[in-house]
Amino acid sequence: MIENVQTASAVGDTTQQTTSMIKLENVSKYYKTFPAVNNFNFEIGRGEVFGFIGPNGAGKTTTIKMLATLMLPTDGKLSIGGYDVVKEPHEVRRIIGYMPDSFGVYEDLLVWEYLDYFAALYKLSPAQRKRATSDVLELTDLTTKHDAQVMSLSRGMKQRLCLAKTLLHDPEVLLLDEPASGLDPHARIEIRELIRELCRMGKTVLVSSHILTELADFCTSIGIVEAGKLLAAGRIDEITAQLSGNVMLEITVKGDPSIAIEILQERPEVQRTTCDGRVIRAEYTGQADDVDELLDYLIQRGVRLLGFTRSQADLEDIFLKITRGTVA
Ligand SMILES: Nc1ncnc2c1ncn2[C@@H]1O[C@H](COP(=O)(O)OP(=O)(O)O)[C@@H](O)[C@H]1O
Ligand SMILES: [Mg+2]
Repeated sequence: MIENVQTASAVGDTTQQTTSMIKLENVSKYYKTFPAVNNFNFEIGRGEVFGFIGPNGAGKTTTIKMLATLMLPTDGKLSIGGYDVVKEPHEVRRIIGYMPDSFGVYEDLLVWEYLDYFAALYKLSPAQRKRATSDVLELTDLTTKHDAQVMSLSRGMKQRLCLAKTLLHDPEVLLLDEPASGLDPHARIEIRELIRELCRMGKTVLVSSHILTELADFCTSIGIVEAGKLLAAGRIDEITAQLSGNVMLEITVKGDPSIAIEILQERPEVQRTTCDGRVIRAEYTGQADDVDELLDYLIQRGVRLLGFTRSQADLEDIFLKITRGTVA
């Protein structure tokens, strides 16, 4: 039972930054005998934006549904805000907003009716409903659509309306299942900005995607999943630090890069190369201070260089390493 839904969230409360808001301990989910989620363990701190990344069929939706109290785990323990998701689902529902991966079918309603309907389910009084509706419409930039038919909205607007719906009771924790999927680039940017805004409001966000770059620039932590296995999870800075033994090189060549790539691949300290136009990216596993030897070697072999720089491993590098099994 929700009495006052406009509860204070932890805006600006830095003392609680490290508290874990979401926790999974040895969580598994089997569909009959099929293991969709295999022994997941991770924690998400208060105020973090956790990117839950993996290809289709990885187990993202299954995990999110368990967190949203809509599905029971076969094994293990999930908690949100200290509440056990299985034993205290009502408390959990009060503090979460769940956005499923598909839009419901309430299309012959007006926008405000749609929101009012859900606000009523959250047991808000008529005055609170009006206020909450207007707040979430403003936040999602849909104020001018107050009296529009849901049916008439673009896909991007529907997606924002769906997010607006999950915000009606001002939840502290948001579980967003592929909120940007199927959107055009512009609408995707709008959703991204909105998630950033929610983050600034101090909310803890778990957002899934099968497209890494959708999440890369605003997540503070990530979980990488593939075929029911959690390959890595944690704060991006920590994961990057763990992997930072390897230096990424950006080598720009004059002429055909394929010759330079072949030469690079002769060297045992060069692990992996990718190429984008004339820019080759190579993972260098040698001593960071000996990278000049590689440069000398390229020049000796007649490669004509326009650029040779070291770059920090970014999320994309981490993702490639992890999903290719080069990280234990
Ligand atoms: N209700 C279900 N019954 C049986 N298998 C399912 C069911 N839901 C999902 N699966 C299977 O579980 C795996 C994980 O699915 P899902 O959690 O939807 O992954 P994701 O969201 O990462 O694409 C997939 O192989 C999928 O086919
Ligand atoms: Mg899914």
